[in-house]
Amino acid sequence: MKRIITIAGSNSQKSINKSLLSYTSGLLDNVEFISIDLNDYILPIYGVDFEAENGMPTAVKRLDEIIHTADAFIISLAEHNGSYTAVFKNTIDWLSRINMKIWREKPMLLMAASPGGRGGSGVLQSASLNFPFLGAKIIETYSLPSFYDNFREGEIIEENFRRVLEGKIDRFFKEL
Ligand SMILES: Cc1cc2nc3c(=O)[nH]c(=O)nc-3n(C[C@H](O)[C@H](O)[C@H](O)COP(=O)(O)O)c2cc1C
Repeated sequence: MKRIITIAGSNSQKSINKSLLSYTSGLLDNVEFISIDLNDYILPIYGVDFEAENGMPTAVKRLDEIIHTADAFIISLAEHNGSYTAVFKNTIDWLSRINMKIWREKPMLLMAASPGGRGGSGVLQSASLNFPFLGAKIIETYSLPSFYDNFREGEIIEENFRRVLEGKIDRFFKEL
């Protein structure tokens, strides 16, 4: 069975991106999911001096080892001030110090959700441009804007947004 690793780019306990990931995972059958919560990998702020003095935190090594076992990724990014959240950026900075090809050239469905009308388009655009340098093979991107209008009780309730996601999942699944 193929193993898909899901990561929300958020450390919020009530993360809307975690909710979108749960819903998306429920649309895929016959795959194994490993859900990574960044709160389980608390890291110091990356700095070259810190790394030189202290080496690689154990939590980064643990995370890299798990990521290495993935056949594919579904990532959903929260947007803070038009870009990655600090916790997500910090995590990928650390991971890139072990292996620049963080995403191992495995298929990725890249998503973003936000309460606003732009649906995290800034962070999605950033990641779409930069993740390939980190070894991402992005199959599809998906944005869910106006989250609290379009998502209720664990589901996308707006038909068009639901159908678009289902189509993207089909395409992603074919790459597994
Ligand atoms: C510091 C901060 C900056 C934010 N900046 C943006 C932004 O640039 N664009 C946006 O759509 N939402 C922004 N938001 C709102 C987030 O999209 C919202 O908090 C969302 O729930 C974050 O996703 P999460 O719940 O998965 O953490 C910001 C929120 C915070 C706390």
